[in-house]
Amino acid sequence: MSETVDPISYYDSIAETFAKQASDKNANLFEYDGNMPSLLKLSDQISGNVLDYGCGAGNFTDMFSRDDRFVDGCDTSPHLVDIAREHYPAINFYNASKDGSVGLDKEYDLIVAKLVFHYVANLDATLASLSDNLRIGGHLLFSVPHPDKTQKHFSSEIDEGTYVDEVGQFGLTLPMVHRSLGRLSTLLANNDFSIVKTDIVYDKQVPKRLNVLAVRQLNKNV
Ligand SMILES: C[S@@+](CC[C@H](N)C(=O)[O-])C[C@H]1O[C@@H](n2cnc3c(N)ncnc32)[C@H](O)[C@@H]1O
Repeated sequence: MSETVDPISYYDSIAETFAKQASDKNANLFEYDGNMPSLLKLSDQISGNVLDYGCGAGNFTDMFSRDDRFVDGCDTSPHLVDIAREHYPAINFYNASKDGSVGLDKEYDLIVAKLVFHYVANLDATLASLSDNLRIGGHLLFSVPHPDKTQKHFSSEIDEGTYVDEVGQFGLTLPMVHRSLGRLSTLLANNDFSIVKTDIVYDKQVPKRLNVLAVRQLNKNV
């Protein structure tokens, strides 16, 4: 029987192995050739202050660096933050708080979260917290495993539900959250975001990633 572990502790405990693997283009062809180009294209028009939330080893954070951008990264894993700092000294990396809040007194033009939200149990709270660090009119860009894929863990169609799945080669399973596009749209709307664009990235004609660009609107209650 495999053991189920909390994603935050898991990534911290395998930080070095994860960093090597994440930075290896050959081991991650789908991410490098398919998913990362999709995310870079969706955010191509956006400049200014950028935060990579759940930045892992910092390899994807570095891809956002451009003359017209100031890029930061943050992660809940202190070990991954150390590794990212060592590999990319020109970028500021911060420890995100374990409750999911960024813990920084800074406003961004763009917050990116690649393959993070499916580990977040209370996405409503995380979106509220990320919204505090985004200027009005600022953008949130995220990538999640495509809902068609995660829906397969359930016997009937549902909007949101937790499942466990194996990760890596350590015989461990992590809790992950399936959310339909409808559910994601509702959570975004509840936090004053509206969807600008979505992109589906396919692997051999099967949807593998759902990428969403949303904009933070003026709070309707203000
Ligand atoms: C699959 S990795 C993705 C890392 C990086 N964004 C990338 O694409 O290479 C997931 C990252 O999310 C972080 N993480 C895990 N659970 C989290 C949570 N509940 N809240 C915020 N970050 C979390 C992990 O420390 C890890 O760096």
